[in-house]
Amino acid sequence: MSDEGYELQFVKDAFESNWIAPIGPHVDAFEREFADYIGISHAAALSSGTAALHLALLLLGVKEDDEVLCSSFTFSATANAITYQRAHPVFIDSDDSSWNMDTDLLVEELRRCAKRGILPKAVIVVDLYGQSADYDAILESCQEYNVPVIEDAAEALGATYRGMKCGDFGIAGILSFNGNKIITSSGGGMLVSEDRKLIEKARFLSTQARDQAPHYQHSEIGYNYRMSNVVAAIGRGQLKILDKRVEQKRQIFDYYKRVLNELPGIEFMPEAEYGRCTRWLTCITVDPKEFGGTREDIRLKLEENNIESRPLWKPMHMQPVFEGCRIVGGSVSERLFETGLCLPSGTAMSEGDLSLICSLIRSVRKYANRR
Ligand SMILES: Cc1ncc(COP(=O)(O)O)c(C=O)c1O
Repeated sequence: MSDEGYELQFVKDAFESNWIAPIGPHVDAFEREFADYIGISHAAALSSGTAALHLALLLLGVKEDDEVLCSSFTFSATANAITYQRAHPVFIDSDDSSWNMDTDLLVEELRRCAKRGILPKAVIVVDLYGQSADYDAILESCQEYNVPVIEDAAEALGATYRGMKCGDFGIAGILSFNGNKIITSSGGGMLVSEDRKLIEKARFLSTQARDQAPHYQHSEIGYNYRMSNVVAAIGRGQLKILDKRVEQKRQIFDYYKRVLNELPGIEFMPEAEYGRCTRWLTCITVDPKEFGGTREDIRLKLEENNIESRPLWKPMHMQPVFEGCRIVGGSVSERLFETGLCLPSGTAMSEGDLSLICSLIRSVRKYANRR
């Protein structure tokens, strides 16, 4: 049998064996197979990547009024998890070369925090749009100040950093199987770590913190964060096609790059030399003067044709809900938001679809004869 089509077989097995529960053999198997894929010792299958982030923070002892440093250029789930613990996010801007956390700004902020005598309780580093952050530099700086790093690799499953898989860096990594991710179980997440105790405690907290007793007894507040056996069955099937998806995503990127590169004013998200990006989404920035139209002109032209594209993440320091939070730097992610667009990147698209999208983008140029 090829690697395709395992999902239904595993789900059928879950039903036939009557394991329709937040525990079961597919949950155990998914955790093992997933940890093997990442190259890490332990994994806890959870209901979402956000749940994994929340538990990681909680298990690192993050609590009310603590500060947690966090990439500003990300999806809100990263920063939301910090507020679940009533802690305060401090946002760090991106660098131009990878769009991920700017290590120099991180070091500056750690230095400032040390000087005032209040270090952050943790740093959450995001691997954006399928690309790893620069972990050698980040981990070295955080180690110097003894601040633990959580890797938010929700968007970078299948990507590598110096040959190692994303999710493998810091004290714990989190991954997501949400519907829009490179593989999906319809919804779900994974917390991974080399620390067995941390993962065991995550499993305990994710199933309502039930003490070992024949009756229901609880000495801690728990959560309903565990992945179900049926969802894990889908996840196992999807994991088998992950590497193929990465290749397909990279081919989609290559197509866009080949066809659009000739247009002035369009730049693609750079691929850092230290790793291999999955190109989960093909992301561009548009210089309106050079191109002869804005990224919004492109988005609206695609929308007119019933094709969805999205602006790049609006940085967290620009979000009304995080008004008043500290930001270190900010101009890089602000510019990316203003000029950036995620192009349609679904692996079900045909070459005809891609060709149509590229022609529509080209048609937006107002001064097409300029060059
Ligand atoms: C960077 C990032 N972190 C966390 C999450 C949260 O994952 P989930 O949707 O599984 O809760 C997402 C996406 O949804 C994400 O893009």
